[in-house]
Amino acid sequence: MLRTHTCGELTLKNAGNSVVLCGWLQRSRDLGGMTFIDLRDRYGITQLVFNMETNASLCEAARKMGREFVIRVHGRVTERSNKNLKMPTGEIEISVDSFEILNEAKTPPFTIEENTDGGEDLRMKYRYLDIRRSPVKEALLLRARVAAETRNYLNKVDFIEVETPVLIKSTPEGARDFVVPSRMNPGEFYALPQSPQTFKQLLMVAGMDKYYQIVKCFRDEDLRADRQPEFTQIDCEMSFVEQEDILNTFEGLVRHLFDAVKNCNIGELPRMTYAEAMQNYGNDKPDIRFEMKLIDFSTLSKGKNFKVFDEAGVVLAICAKGCSEYTRKQLDELTDWVKRPQIGATGLVYARYNTDGSIKSSVDKFYSPEDLKLWMEKCNAAPGDLVLILAGEEHKTRKAMSELRLEMGSRLGLRDKDNYRALWVLDFPLLEWSEETQRWHAMHHPFTSPKPEDVGLLTSDPGKVRANAYDMVINGVEVGGGSIRIFNKELQQKMFGILGFSPEDAQAQFGFLMNAFEFGAPPHGGIAFGFDRLCSLFGGADSIRDYIAFPKNNAGRDVMIDSPAKISAEQLKELQISIHKP
Ligand code: AMO
Repeated sequence: MLRTHTCGELTLKNAGNSVVLCGWLQRSRDLGGMTFIDLRDRYGITQLVFNMETNASLCEAARKMGREFVIRVHGRVTERSNKNLKMPTGEIEISVDSFEILNEAKTPPFTIEENTDGGEDLRMKYRYLDIRRSPVKEALLLRARVAAETRNYLNKVDFIEVETPVLIKSTPEGARDFVVPSRMNPGEFYALPQSPQTFKQLLMVAGMDKYYQIVKCFRDEDLRADRQPEFTQIDCEMSFVEQEDILNTFEGLVRHLFDAVKNCNIGELPRMTYAEAMQNYGNDKPDIRFEMKLIDFSTLSKGKNFKVFDEAGVVLAICAKGCSEYTRKQLDELTDWVKRPQIGATGLVYARYNTDGSIKSSVDKFYSPEDLKLWMEKCNAAPGDLVLILAGEEHKTRKAMSELRLEMGSRLGLRDKDNYRALWVLDFPLLEWSEETQRWHAMHHPFTSPKPEDVGLLTSDPGKVRANAYDMVINGVEVGGGSIRIFNKELQQKMFGILGFSPEDAQAQFGFLMNAFEFGAPPHGGIAFGFDRLCSLFGGADSIRDYIAFPKNNAGRDVMIDSPAKISAEQLKELQISIHKP
């Protein structure tokens, strides 16, 4: 080893020891008689001191070094006169006897400290420098810990880790596939897995019983803060189980992770049906850190000659506690907020329940004080509260109200990142109708089993069929989802039929799975967690990017290695691909 210790471990206990440290020069301060250098490695920062009086030439040489030089120092641990108790190594410093420069460094394009002056693009381009900064480094250490604890838990309860291939054939998970041309099979393409879904089901047919894999998945979809084109799942599957067994096993995993990584007990996970979630929160991933449920005002508000409400598919209200004194300006700003295209509401109606008991609304012309009193009762409002109302087409209005609820929750400080509230959302619809393609699509994926009691509806009323599908939601983030699978060839064929596959297409695409089902498929089900999302939740961040060592930017590019990139004419020729410019 080139070093005896790391830069994060020396304390007063080591005072007097001779040590050798290696690391990067984070910062240098020249105080005339003394020069101080902060030496950084993965473990922390240790202060080096050079004394002009005792060793002028060494001190002068130290002063010549630039930021991020890689150095090796020999010295003695001494007690600092000026202690920094905020740092683990803040009570000591190293009186340097000698040092060597292991490598010089160009001046970095941004400061490599806790807070940096580097913008997002620059930091992505020099990601290897950004990772030297402690917040990014800590995020990756957290990620490694979550992975290790996941393996600890799953190994302990008898799961086995199996790798599945990366060059596969398209899995219909709903997003677009990334494809890879095959040189040996000209004109044919592999697809990168959107998830190992079909393989894990085949592993159940193979008798592997309890499978897991921390695995890369690839989806060519539009990017958001919680989406990356390549991301990681904790992918799991079990045989001879019912939904309840899966919920218990994976509630156990998440409870273990919170306990081991965050030292936090998340308690029993409440369960909510999809229908309840949509009704009360307008959202299938409700943030239950705060109440503020959506209240249906439709019957209460119609028939009073207010056209907007009379003509609306639904009128929805939320009660913002303690907000009756919102100024006109604040309400106008909130109205503009709901009218933004991302939210899409046409306007906002409000009613203040003043602290003196009077009620004032923006639609007083149409509603009497008695009407408004009924509004307040319906949403359990008290003097001091503000009721906010949106009206319009049902689906759009629920969605917009869900956004407004979250926004008000944030404004009122009800979404504390350190307060974790997890739940299961159950009984998702099996199918959803697409106006665009004029056919049914699987809400989760085509292998999800309908609830046995709803199978009869598959032909008569497919939209009413509920699935044995579940999502785990934490603080309004869908961290995982799964289902009990169809394990019978006939039902699977029927499902493909409903999804618009001809028997030939279904055979061509999924013959391998349906054939496998003829060789004794056990009842099975599973779940996959968004590993990056779990990590960012643990770290209290909104974006998963900082929890991925080398992420893509919003345009799906890796700006560090400059990818995607063109390939040579020779490679194209070998692959028998010609590029047609439009
Ligand atoms: P699903 O598509 O719901 O299910 O994905 C499971 C979980 O993966 C995470 N996730 C993502 N994370 C980051 N970036 C993305 N682009 C992204 N897409 C999804 C989410 C999600 O809950 N095969 C099924 C699972 C099963 O049925 O067992 C599947 O992939 O947290």
